[in-house]
This record gives sequence, C-alpha cells and structure tokens, in this order.
Amino acid sequence: MSLLVLDGVTKAFGGLVAVDGLSLDVRPGEIFALIGPNGAGKSTTFNLISGLLGPDRGRIVLDGADITEITPASRAHLGIGRTFQLMQPFHDMTVVENVMTGELFGHTVPKSLAEARRDAEAICHMVGLDQLVNRDVTGLGVANLKRLEIARALATHPRLLLLDEVMAGLTLTEARQAVAVIRQVRETEVTVLLIDHVMSSVRDLADRVAVLNFGKKIAEGSFQTVAADPDVIEAYLGTEEGDTHQH
Ligand SMILES: Nc1ncnc2c1ncn2[C@@H]1O[C@H](COP(=O)(O)OP(=O)(O)OP(=O)(O)O)[C@@H](O)[C@H]1O
Ligand SMILES: [Mg+2]
Repeated sequence: MSLLVLDGVTKAFGGLVAVDGLSLDVRPGEIFALIGPNGAGKSTTFNLISGLLGPDRGRIVLDGADITEITPASRAHLGIGRTFQLMQPFHDMTVVENVMTGELFGHTVPKSLAEARRDAEAICHMVGLDQLVNRDVTGLGVANLKRLEIARALATHPRLLLLDEVMAGLTLTEARQAVAVIRQVRETEVTVLLIDHVMSSVRDLADRVAVLNFGKKIAEGSFQTVAADPDVIEAYLGTEEGDTHQH
C-alpha cells in the first residue's frame, strides 16, 4: 500500500491555480523528488500535505486514512515531519533546544525532557551539528540552519519526511553531506519526499521523480526518464536555472 496519496488536489490563491489536479503516490521507504521551475507549486504541495493549507478540491491519504481535513498538529502526530524552505529556527534557544521542540510535538513523544535531550543530541550528531549543540542559533550560517531544519523535523520521528530545498545555498561539499544524511535517514525506514533544484542531488537520491509545471504534473518516473522528457526539458531542465538555481 502507498504511504501517501494525493488524489486530484487543487489549490488556488485568488485567480492563480498554484496546484492543479495533482495526483501523487509515494510508496513506503522510497525517496521521491518533486521538481519543477520557480512557482510551479512545490512548496504549496508541501503545505497541503502538512496541513498548513487546505485544498479546494481533492483528497490526501496517509497510510489508507483520509487526512484532508485534520490539523497540522494531528498530521505531525500521525508521522508527517517537514522542513521549511525559509528556515524558521526559534531564536534565544540553543541548537539542541530547537531540535527538542520537534521531540515534544511529533509522532512519538519522549517520556521525559532528559530523554528528549538525549535523542535530540543523537540527531544533532547524525546531521553534523554535534559541535554546536549548546550554541544559540542566532548567527548560524545557512548550512547549519539547513541541518537544524532537518534535525528538528527528524526529532518528530516522522514516517514521512518532507524536505523543502534543504540543499539550496549549500556548497558542493555541504550538499554531498546532506545527500549522505538523507540516505542515512531512509535507512531508518523513513520515507522521504523532497523538493530540490540541485539536479545532481536529485539524480543521486531519488528513486522516483515527479515534475510540476504551473501546478500540474508533467512527467513522472526515474530521474533518467524525466530528464530525457522533452516537455521537462522545455519547462525546466533546458533553462539556465537547472543546476545552478539557488534561493
Ligand atoms: N500564500 C500564498 N498566497 C498567494 N499566492 C501564493 C501563496 N503561496 C504561493 N503562492 C503562489 O503560488 C505559486 C506556487 O508557489 P510555490 O511556493 O508553491 O512554488 P514553488 O514551486 O515552491 O517555487 P520555488 O521553486 O520558487 O520555491 C506561485 O505563483 C506563488 O507566488
Ligand atoms: Mg518552494
């Protein structure tokens, strides 16, 4: 059975249809990438899956249960964890405290604060933040803020992890480290749905790729299949943004 199904999901902002009749099917254990040009509706799709937005039409199903109408908090409890494209750390808190907030609102809730801290520290170690656990987040650079977003989402112990452009703004070396972290996450039986413009990372990570353009899915399949698709090349890969796009 699929872990996540989107069935004809549509979301308009005024006259702009940001997501247009989108159907997706994410299988347990896979790394699924959502790509497409700026404004294609990728982050809006994440907001619909995590519940920050409600669709105008269509259904969202997690593990066989319709979650279209339930709150973001309930979806987090059911195992949907996410990062934000615009990083949103809690200031005046340390790195590990930020990660602990994920522990307290997630899929499995720790028995004590001490347990939450231990688990958060282990996650910091996994994502490469171990030297910074007790540092205030203010002043952290992009790479560490991206690591923190991933760590906080992981701390909710998600079954489905949504990663919105966690490679954007990273150096090649940092992006390779992020690829390694995401592979490690998948080995813990977390299903990953990721948005990215860094094509080399998508190629290296994704089992399957769906391409959005103006809110519609224009192609789906292996990276090789979609990268060779003339519609995709015209919409996206042929443009100069392709590999160099950064936010
Ligand atoms: N809250 C909102 N209100 C109005 N319009 C919105 C809102 N959120 C997104 N949009 C619009 O919907 C469209 C899709 O935006 P979205 O952020 O989903 O694109 P994206 O594929 O994530 O793009 P990017 O690659 O630039 O992050 C865009 O035209 C955007 O301006
Ligand atoms: Mg986006």
